[in-house]
Amino acid sequence: RRTAAVIPAAGRGVRLGPGAPKALRTLGGTPMLIHAVRAMARSRAVSLVVVVAPADGAGEVKNLLDEHALPDRTDILVVPGGETRQESVRAGLDALPEDVTDVLVHDAARPLVPVDTVDAVVEAVRAGAPAVVPALPLADTVKEVEPGRPGEPEPVVATPERSRLRAVQTPQGFDRATLVRAHDSVAVNGEGATDDAGMVEKTGVTVVVVPGHEEAFKVTRPLDLVLAEAVLARRRA
Ligand code: CTP
Ligand code: MG
Repeated sequence: RRTAAVIPAAGRGVRLGPGAPKALRTLGGTPMLIHAVRAMARSRAVSLVVVVAPADGAGEVKNLLDEHALPDRTDILVVPGGETRQESVRAGLDALPEDVTDVLVHDAARPLVPVDTVDAVVEAVRAGAPAVVPALPLADTVKEVEPGRPGEPEPVVATPERSRLRAVQTPQGFDRATLVRAHDSVAVNGEGATDDAGMVEKTGVTVVVVPGHEEAFKVTRPLDLVLAEAVLARRRA
């Protein structure tokens, strides 16, 4: 079997605030995207990384990848992304060579995922699970609310039992055909999902969870950058 990683990196990073596209913002002086590519390439199972660049930034991303050291055994492709994360992942899937059987989808915004987490996902897919997500138990209790008018207090409608909830991360791993089928059916039925495993669930395939890692958190808001810099500094110490 051959495993490839698709890295959606075409988002603007609106929640992070003004500046360069999020994937190109630096951590420890190195663009987040480069950290994310290295995190995938560090796994011996991953022989190809497909980077999905901002639609108008594929050239810039190619230059960045040329400037930074990456393992020789890993092939890299760059393709332009779309308006939504889903469209960007689709563009990455469409660029995969025929011989790829297993696919990881990994957010550029999770630059610090440890290689052991990547390998655990790959192993579970190779062992026969068609869809695998790394996940962690939640620290906070979660409430479901009835969204009201802006400014009005929202009534709580349910409190799901916390011990049964998991916060999911990436890389999410899939049997290629399963993931492509899910993207095809979402493209027909409209209505997206916020992650790839969610789309696979909608096709009736069982998704399984493996242990995630604290350091696989997503850089979403400015405070996440502070944490990411601290994690990197601790690694380098
Ligand atoms: N992504 C993408 N194409 C899009 C939107 C998002 O490739 N049209 C990617 C992002 O680059 C990121 C990953 O999907 O690596 C996860 O998305 P998120 O954390 O939401 O990043 P952004 O969409 O860039 O951030 P925001 O939602 O705050 O604008
Ligand atoms: Mg987004």
